[in-house]
Amino acid sequence: MIPNREECLRLMSEYGMLENIFTHSLEVAKVALFISTELNKKEQRIDLGLVEAASLLHDITKTECLKTKEDHAQTGSQILKAMGYERVGEVVKQHIWFGEKGSPVTVSEEEIVNYADKRVMHERIVSLEERFNDLKERYGRDQRAIDYLSRLEKETYEIENKIFLILQINPNGLRHLQRESDY
Ligand SMILES: [Fe+2]
Repeated sequence: MIPNREECLRLMSEYGMLENIFTHSLEVAKVALFISTELNKKEQRIDLGLVEAASLLHDITKTECLKTKEDHAQTGSQILKAMGYERVGEVVKQHIWFGEKGSPVTVSEEEIVNYADKRVMHERIVSLEERFNDLKERYGRDQRAIDYLSRLEKETYEIENKIFLILQINPNGLRHLQRESDY
């Protein structure tokens, strides 16, 4: 069972999502759907409904977790699974860390949502380099935090390399998706 876009938007407001997280999620969905559609033209079999729902809902509990300091990938996954959205919950669970090797030839919905989230900084589509520079600046306070971010960066580049080797386009090609109102 996968909620449609309307149901996702309803859940986002029901959970009191902050406006900037709401806008971020819309952008992630746009990037993720673009990548998925292009991958499907290259014989991948991405479930577009699943990608859209998981992108919209990936930060469903983040507003709450800002207060509780819980892991929003875990709690988001749990509440979605409890609603009967098993697959969406699985994808949301891996949106920060993908955490596995992954298939060398096929791209999963998990990898796409994880990657799209990294390409949207707040509400803006950026390169991985820009995104990780920002993360390191904001959170790289000690060696442990720097190592954590370096590992995450390496994992994300692996996903990027796989996706764009299949697509045969430059990762910067996603920038055209930026909302026109941002120019
Ligand atoms: Fe998140």
